Amino acid sequence: MPIIRKNHNRYSMSLSQDRLSKQLGVRPFQYFDQVDSTQGLAINWLLNGAQPSSVVIADEQLKGRGRVAGRTWYTPPGVALALSVILKPREDALPQVMMLGALAIAELLEFLGAEDVSIKWPNDVLLNGKKVSGVLPEAEWQGNQLIGVVLGMGLNVRVDFAGTDVEHKAISIEPALNKAVDRAELLTQLLDRIDYWSTYLGSDTLFKAWKSRLVTMGQEVTINGITGIAESVQEDGSLILRDDAGVEHRIIAGEIQSTIEGLDH
Ligand code: BTN
Repeated sequence: MPIIRKNHNRYSMSLSQDRLSKQLGVRPFQYFDQVDSTQGLAINWLLNGAQPSSVVIADEQLKGRGRVAGRTWYTPPGVALALSVILKPREDALPQVMMLGALAIAELLEFLGAEDVSIKWPNDVLLNGKKVSGVLPEAEWQGNQLIGVVLGMGLNVRVDFAGTDVEHKAISIEPALNKAVDRAELLTQLLDRIDYWSTYLGSDTLFKAWKSRLVTMGQEVTINGITGIAESVQEDGSLILRDDAGVEHRIIAGEIQSTIEGLDH
């Protein structure tokens, strides 16, 4: 069992309006102790004119939304980071928003000292081969005009999965890295990475950085009922899969059901 430093200052380790005001400076944010989902609140804020980089944060979510329809994201109080960042990308850069989220989290983990970090297509972040974070981009349109995107991100900081049905495929940062992590500091570092990569939205640089971290390439996977070898990814984020009969499939969004550990939880 890894040892986690227990004598940390309770104030510094908790999330609160006051703490986040100090931590986030001038960045517009909304903080809640408990919400159904930060996504819905951020979408409302976006529709009411929030500026880019604004963020909604919650300590606990009761109905955290997962990427796969109907699947919830587990966010118990005090042990995770749940946030939704508002972005206003150009329409042609839209597919890169999910890449940006996964990339920012992967870099954050490496900054913390993690050595085995990868991305499972399209945007699950794996630590030591298990899912540590999920990314959920949701675009808002008025007619055919893009209003903006809400980039939801959930990170398992010290979520205890023992005894749950995802025990073998989910992981938390603290036990994996054997160090205490301050969620408010983690949030600031993550938002910095998001700000950085936001300036590269729509670029080949961002696409290549995401692609270079994909663990899925060359592996046999099953997505949307199609089994085959994941051969490549395209600039819009879609995955090219060649099935056993040699037929090529382009998967725009899907869920890898087997072969790679670290699936949704
Ligand atoms: C996934 O299924 O992998 C994506 C999970 C995304 C979870 C985050 S937590 C913050 C934000 N609010 C939600 O309701 N979902 C996203």
